[in-house]
Amino acid sequence: MDWGMKNRMSKIIRPDTGRCLMLAIDHGYFLGPTERLEVPRRTVAPLLPYADSLMLTRGVLRTSVPPESNVPIVLRVSGATSIIGEDLSKETIVTSIEEAIKLNASCLALSIFVGSKYEHQTLANLAKLVDEGEKYGIPVLAVTAVGKDMARDARYLGLACRVAAELGAHVVKTYYCDNFEEVVEGCPVPLIIAGGKKLPEADALKLAHDAVHHGASGVDMGRNIWQSDWPVAMIKAVRAIVHKDADVKEAYGIFLKEKEKDKSGQKEPQKVVKTVSHSFD
Ligand code: 5RP
Repeated sequence: MDWGMKNRMSKIIRPDTGRCLMLAIDHGYFLGPTERLEVPRRTVAPLLPYADSLMLTRGVLRTSVPPESNVPIVLRVSGATSIIGEDLSKETIVTSIEEAIKLNASCLALSIFVGSKYEHQTLANLAKLVDEGEKYGIPVLAVTAVGKDMARDARYLGLACRVAAELGAHVVKTYYCDNFEEVVEGCPVPLIIAGGKKLPEADALKLAHDAVHHGASGVDMGRNIWQSDWPVAMIKAVRAIVHKDADVKEAYGIFLKEKEKDKSGQKEPQKVVKTVSHSFD
């Protein structure tokens, strides 16, 4: 890796802990105004001080994150589908590398849909993006999804992660599953996990804990943080797991303590429009 690539990677995965807490707020790129992310600026403001990096599209970056903010940007550059469209896997690259450089992105993120109708197209997107990223020293995060009928187990997730790494992804995101260490072992680049659907806070903390305990280099978490009634308390608790190796009990204790002080508590959804409730997972 050249200096630029190493420097950007160090903004994504903290060299002192070898881990990352990426806050995902890119859901609107195909879901529209997701619950509690209806007004991204409001959701993200109280969480920014605790996120190592922010994963989002250029539209939300421009409108909802202050440019003076120092948070490293993981720019989602794949899309052009929606939850009510023909097929979610029919993604293309929607943001150019020049635009990513202008936006000072530290990393580029793109989804691959292994075992889906448009598998080939999404894998070719990844290979092309890695070539572009390598030219300018910008790492690529591959977000793995597997076909609708495939179990999210170590076999299929492991396959998707390995394919992503073989195509040159610098970091891979997947889901936690049983025998997760096999997925980690088969993937020669850092692996981080998505949080998935909103769970009770204690369960989400256990998920984050088990993932890092079994070899994940951190989390790229969204709904389990900002759909909590106490998002700041939640991100602080996840942070303790990721960077301080807190166990689930300690992390939940942090959540309960911080919950009392959390002025950002969203007792009501900040719903401004009716959201489409289908989920991608
Ligand atoms: C959607 C994504 C999301 O950013 C990812 O799933 C993380 O968010 P969550 O923790 O809510 O699952 O990449 O394609």
